[in-house]
Amino acid sequence: MAEDLSISRIGTKEEQYESLIPQIEALLYGETDLIANLANICAALKEQFGWFWVGFYLVKNDELVLGPFQGPVACTRIKKGKGVCGASWQQEQILIVPNVDEFPGHIACASASKSEIVLPLYKANEIIGVLDVDSEYLSHFDEVDELYLKKIISFLNA
Ligand code: SME
Repeated sequence: MAEDLSISRIGTKEEQYESLIPQIEALLYGETDLIANLANICAALKEQFGWFWVGFYLVKNDELVLGPFQGPVACTRIKKGKGVCGASWQQEQILIVPNVDEFPGHIACASASKSEIVLPLYKANEIIGVLDVDSEYLSHFDEVDELYLKKIISFLNA
């Protein structure tokens, strides 16, 4: 497909995801390189939603290491159980944090970040990394984001 997206910020968040998701699916189709696909997912999400930071951390030698992302520079390594990303990895669950200042151990890569969602990334039932999205607004993420972001990362295993 052409490497440009049709982005419309008109409509509900659900409608925006519904318009973006087939485009992400098409972008990933036939490409098996994980880093290339993670990079394009970040770019597409950033372009559609303009979030403060969107990126992946990948499990390497029992740590999360910064992978493809869009946004300001970020911390490069996160230990299991540390911060929202490390907690999501350790607990093997999606974490939605409405106010990062109230999350014990939150790692503040940027003080502008106020809320966050983190989803584990699976390959063959193993967590191989996490998707982390940060917003400069409080309570920015909800079950709608959870549903659609889960769907987007599921394309990586298609
Ligand atoms: N806030 C994250 C660290 C990564 S940055 O937000 C990009 C955390 O607490 O795990």
